[in-house]
Amino acid sequence: MQDDMQQLKQQRVFGTRNRRRLWRRVLAVSVVATALSAVAAGPIVAASADKGVGPVKDVKLGPVDAALAQKGAQVFQQKCSACHKFHERYVGPPLRGVTTRRAPEWIMNMILNPQEMTQEDATAKELLGEYMMQMTFQNVTQEEARAILEHFRQNDAAGAGSAAEKK
Ligand code: HEC
Repeated sequence: MQDDMQQLKQQRVFGTRNRRRLWRRVLAVSVVATALSAVAAGPIVAASADKGVGPVKDVKLGPVDAALAQKGAQVFQQKCSACHKFHERYVGPPLRGVTTRRAPEWIMNMILNPQEMTQEDATAKELLGEYMMQMTFQNVTQEEARAILEHFRQNDAAGAGSAAEKK
């Protein structure tokens, strides 16, 4: 009788463990399946939808405006090139391809509101952790930030080593 009870108890414990193991396996499989379906969705064509925190809520993009990009290149040269290059890590991240990784609003908010971005936006916070340096507001107007965005768009559209990029 005692033995029977013991056996029954062991069976029950064993059953629970097995069930838990099974659940864990089901969970692991579904996590992998979700990850795989994300990969199967193909390369990320559009930049992230994260708009960041700051004054810029909605940017409408048309075809690249060369004159605006030119203006942006000038501001970039004066106010950003001390910390950024396009192809290499410098004080800050390399900016090649930035328009494919980030939403236009995010980029402008990073330019206009870097302090709050690195405190409240998960992506910017991560960059701060990696670069160990706070990007500072460079006293640019919203129009200038928009022009810089156009400069980045032109670079990213033009391919590596374009004339605009070398400036
Ligand atoms: C004092 C150095 C410094 C200056 C000046 C500076 N940045 Fe930055 N920038 C950084 C650092 C460092 C980061 C990474 C985030 C952080 O640590 O604050 C960054 C991040 C960025 C990012 C995000 C990059 C990515 O991969 O998502 C953009 C865009 C950017 N900066 C644009 C600019 C522009 C445009 C200017 C000029 C108006 C500028 N920065 C001026 C240091 C600087």
